[in-house]
Amino acid sequence: MKKYKNKGVSDKPSVAKETALESDAKPSVAKETALESDAKPSVAKETALESDECIIRAQSLYYEYSAGTPFSKKAVDGVSFSIKRNRITGIIGHTGSGKSTLLQMLNGLLVPMSGDVLLDSESIFRDKKTLRQARFRVGLVFQYPEYQLFEETVRKDISFGPANLGLSEEETEKRVSFACGFTGLDEQLLDKSPFDLSGGQKRRVAIAGIIAMKPDVLILDEPASGLDSAGRRVVFDGLVNYKNSTGAAVVVVSHSMEDMAKYADEVIVMAQGRMIASGSVNEVFSDRKMLTENSLEAPVISIFADELRDRLAARGIDFPKGIYTVEAALSAITALLGKEGMH
Ligand SMILES: Nc1ncnc2c1ncn2[C@@H]1O[C@H](COP(=O)(O)OP(=O)(O)O)[C@@H](O)[C@H]1O
Ligand SMILES: [Mg+2]
Repeated sequence: MKKYKNKGVSDKPSVAKETALESDAKPSVAKETALESDAKPSVAKETALESDECIIRAQSLYYEYSAGTPFSKKAVDGVSFSIKRNRITGIIGHTGSGKSTLLQMLNGLLVPMSGDVLLDSESIFRDKKTLRQARFRVGLVFQYPEYQLFEETVRKDISFGPANLGLSEEETEKRVSFACGFTGLDEQLLDKSPFDLSGGQKRRVAIAGIIAMKPDVLILDEPASGLDSAGRRVVFDGLVNYKNSTGAAVVVVSHSMEDMAKYADEVIVMAQGRMIASGSVNEVFSDRKMLTENSLEAPVISIFADELRDRLAARGIDFPKGIYTVEAALSAITALLGKEGMH
């Protein structure tokens, strides 16, 4: 498994993110820098660092479907990682690589056959109470969650979780508004039947139902799949805003390398039930060899940027490395045009 040295350093400038980070009781930037400047970080230091920021720790998770039958299927095999607060962790990997199985173990919906999930350093499988707490604190949005809407109105659907938490009607109502804010749902839709909404709106209602529980960890399985680019943006911007305003950890599975490059802080790569790499967007997407070996591709814009860099280098012109988003490519090209006096 590849764990890159510069672990956790995001290459993307994001003012909102940094501000949110700074307002954290325990700012992580200074600590991370301190750690990195150490030639050989001591184990004790690393543990301290991780326990400060880490909200979930997956330890050697193993899961097999139809175990003990001729149809047994290893789905997750010895996977360990930590999920940090105030970060978006992306999970990528081919269909069948174990992503969905993994997510379901993180809130205890599936019980690992071996290994453990620690939530704030305590096993979620310790007893009924810890498991129940995990179900509330770790919100899981399934793939195509709109198929699970079942109430008469959008309001009732979004209220289902908070009402289950035993919150008052007034508080539940506040939570519904709170969740609509992050998912870009017009509150005028609240009294409609979810079945009268468009596909994209239904998706947002389903996501709002989990956000209304204010989870400390929000986990989503391909939340943007099947949506057009405007719909994807609404969903991902909502996740970023939720993370920035609550400091929650967000974990998101996606097939879109473009979305991962744009929104994730850290990326975990799965293949055949194993975690084969983890690191910042820069670390993971610059490792072309690892990606190719696993039939994954870096975002198209970064392939374009590499090609452009080579061609410009042949003409003696420098073009920066580490470009993974359209926005980054645009500003690099604009800066270059300015420098070359070509505008
Ligand atoms: N309910 C199930 N019964 C049997 N096998 C399953 C079941 N769900 C998933 N699998 C198998 O487990 C492996 C991992 O699946 P999954 O976690 O859904 O991967 P991903 O989300 O990355 O596509 C796949 O080989 C898949 O076929
Ligand atoms: Mg899946």
